[in-house]
Amino acid sequence: MFYFGADYYPEQWPQERWPEDARLMKAAGFNVVRLAEFAWSKMEPSEGKFDFNWLDRALKTLHDQGIVALLGTPTASPPPWLMTNHPDIFRLREDGLRVTYGNRCEYCPNHPTYHDFTRRIVTALAEHYADHPEVIGWQIDNEMGNRCYCPVCRSKFQDWLKVRYGTLEKMNAVWGTEFWSHIYTDWTQIPVPLATGGSPNPGLALDFRRFISDSYVAYQQMQVDLLREACPDHLITHNFMGFGYEGLNYYDLARTLDLVSWDDYPAGFWLKDRRVTEPEALALGHDTMRGLKHQNFWVMEQQAGPSGWEIVSPTPRPGELRLWAYQSIAHGADGIVFFRWRTARYGTEQYWHGLLDHHGLPGRRYEEIKQMGAELKKVGAAIQGSSVKARVAILQSYDSRFAFQIQPNNPSFQYSEHVTHVYHALFNRNIAVDVISPQADMSNYMLVIAPALHVLDEAVAARLEQYVQAGGTLVLTPRSGVKDEANAVVNLPLPGLLAEVCGITVAEYDSLSADISQSVKFIASGLKKLGTCAARVWCDILEPAGAQVLAAYTADYYAGRPAITLNQYGKGQAVYVGTFGDVSLYQALFGWLVLKLNIPPVLNAPEGIEVAERWQGDRRLLFVLNHTNAPQKVSLPNGYINLMDGKVSHGEETIPGRDLVILASPSESAG
Ligand code: GAL
Repeated sequence: MFYFGADYYPEQWPQERWPEDARLMKAAGFNVVRLAEFAWSKMEPSEGKFDFNWLDRALKTLHDQGIVALLGTPTASPPPWLMTNHPDIFRLREDGLRVTYGNRCEYCPNHPTYHDFTRRIVTALAEHYADHPEVIGWQIDNEMGNRCYCPVCRSKFQDWLKVRYGTLEKMNAVWGTEFWSHIYTDWTQIPVPLATGGSPNPGLALDFRRFISDSYVAYQQMQVDLLREACPDHLITHNFMGFGYEGLNYYDLARTLDLVSWDDYPAGFWLKDRRVTEPEALALGHDTMRGLKHQNFWVMEQQAGPSGWEIVSPTPRPGELRLWAYQSIAHGADGIVFFRWRTARYGTEQYWHGLLDHHGLPGRRYEEIKQMGAELKKVGAAIQGSSVKARVAILQSYDSRFAFQIQPNNPSFQYSEHVTHVYHALFNRNIAVDVISPQADMSNYMLVIAPALHVLDEAVAARLEQYVQAGGTLVLTPRSGVKDEANAVVNLPLPGLLAEVCGITVAEYDSLSADISQSVKFIASGLKKLGTCAARVWCDILEPAGAQVLAAYTADYYAGRPAITLNQYGKGQAVYVGTFGDVSLYQALFGWLVLKLNIPPVLNAPEGIEVAERWQGDRRLLFVLNHTNAPQKVSLPNGYINLMDGKVSHGEETIPGRDLVILASPSESAG
């Protein structure tokens, strides 16, 4: 079944309204809601006194209309009585200040008292709903991930380090604590990297981020265990925050969940008088979330209207909500849940609009999604069980992201922006991409791009080497192979453990300021037509040791020196791109590389048209999405069936602005 629905807060509305909400939901084709993830005060109004009656009634009202529910464990939003009685649960921020009551996510993820209260509410919920047919699963907490620096965390961090290193000697050695006289002689001396301590030891700072990540993973696992015990048949998920979020290691957080879900807020913004929505950024979010478990996912919060707490974002244009939701499906979503059903009249998120406005009457946005509900009745079965297959992977490393948070290397460098540029170049060509962990199996990919793979351990380096040896093509960008696992700079010419595979070393590097003009010119024969592209942020001046020079710098004392190289290694090859370009550099480079590797686009289409595919066995589903405002002519493959109207495609068709078609290959055109 394709799950389609909304995030619903019955506790925020009078009970008399619930039947009308359920009726409107059913009319829109909804079959699922997420409920109660912030309702702890209503479920446990005072310590140890539970009240699920209201929730039972809400669930029944919805179920009468054929709607099932995922319940949130409400731990992202502890009730006032709890936090007043136990103020030491409040998180301590990096600046040394305690969070105070008034928003949400105030808690320390390691606090034993909070764990006790968590166990109690989660157990009570799980036991109560184990046999309720209305409940199909759980979302744990909500968008977890704030770092805490409190005394509890400090002591747990010290324990975590003991487990990781065994001895202080080992820890001192890998962190290099001789520097500035930081040699620790007792575990209790080790600090947490509070801002008041100034720029921390990079080894300590990276380990602290890993520790916080592990803390949330463990906190989530405690809840997973309780739920699995009481409700073995229920689905368990958490709502992740896409590619842009880099506070936790999402591969770890996803590991024991049944399903990844995430919160997709395209919003869009104005660039002078032009409205920009950056569909590539959304697509990257989807592909990253699909890559966490290498399986399809849900969108647990799909944008439903203008967003905003204090300030209101632009209204999604007619067609956009539906288009964004189909884009989610095109990239592997098997469930779409809109945030939120109705716009709150009270509270911080008064302007984060739902499908219904504050007044609760159906309007344009509701009608648009209702149309989609009717369409899904037709196309849902075809989508069922289908998945994305990509031949290109981008390797994403949370260790590297943590390390760049600690030392960005250059004030203009942002890992997420760099990866987005790389991804964008492939997106523009409609090439399917998996975003995967450095630990994932790479053998099925023809091309693996490892942007700024800064922290590189021996095991990953060996796997990349084997991948190339066996015939794969690897692309690396600057600041790769610079750090070992302990965030110390390697004792090797860069790119360290990957220098041999790349057939180069970095002779020198130059960290650029934003106003310096540098560029790279393609000089290899056959590549000169790629021209000259801007080089930004950083330039590695390369010293070939067997690699062919593809492009050279054009300015400053290293004009003419190698900037991009290609090395044949084993049965494969490695490209080293010594600078951070903008999208045009990657467009040029990948344009050449995908031709060379014979990696076809899903479909050639005009700019602004995204084409993504899912496969149901050997049946190919094409999602052709027009992200522009204007109608676009697209050449569609002959003989495919339009799943919405049943017509067979014959060449060129016009897709209206902010609209889409979904096509299925005729079953005999397998593969
Ligand atoms: C999400 C969050 C929701 C809601 C929404 C709008 O990040 O999970 O609970 O707050 O943003 O702000």
